[in-house]
Amino acid sequence: MLRIVVCVSGGGTNLQAVMDGIEQGAIRDVQIVRVISNNRNAYALERAAKAGIEGVCVSPRDYDDREKFNEAFLAAVKEAEPDLIVLAGFLVVIPPQLIRNYENRIINIHPSLIPSFCGTGYYGLKVHEAALARGVKVTGATVHFVDEGTDTGPIIMQKAVAVQEGDTPESLQRRVMEEAEWIILPRSIELIAEGRVTVADGHVRIEEPA
Ligand code: GRF
Repeated sequence: MLRIVVCVSGGGTNLQAVMDGIEQGAIRDVQIVRVISNNRNAYALERAAKAGIEGVCVSPRDYDDREKFNEAFLAAVKEAEPDLIVLAGFLVVIPPQLIRNYENRIINIHPSLIPSFCGTGYYGLKVHEAALARGVKVTGATVHFVDEGTDTGPIIMQKAVAVQEGDTPESLQRRVMEEAEWIILPRSIELIAEGRVTVADGHVRIEEPA
């Protein structure tokens, strides 16, 4: 059983996609053992509660400085004893020590085709605003391992989504979520749970099914 901790900050639609995948049997041998949010009002925590999954809020606002927050966040993750940490709309910088402790065991969903529209300052709607401003015809989402950079870790899976005439950042965000994020995040977790994902020289290889 792969134990996963999911870190969230907002609506939790990606968390919901993973919970649904487990519920429907598309993702086997995976258990979400804890949901951690930096935002006590995150609807994602409601989603976790409704599913009977323990939700914990660790907010930087509750700590005097970043160091103390990092310690509390590290403890909240470690206590759950995860095999994999999933960042699903999580807007807090991950403490470097956590990345070192969980090398290639932290994954993130980003709402663009990395290396486009990613890195510092590119999150949520801003990503889609930039894609529309640039006039790209295709965007999408990426699941990648988290390393010490921002959106720079080895890419596990990507899925393209066509930009449509008249798209707004909101309509594009919704379609990228529906047609890409909610598909490739659960699928990536399933592949990891099946032991089919390996990393070599910064590149991900997905083994054929046994
Ligand atoms: C999504 O666009 C996701 O790609 C980004 O955060 C947004 C909110 O996701 N990382 P969620 O609804 O909280 O899962």
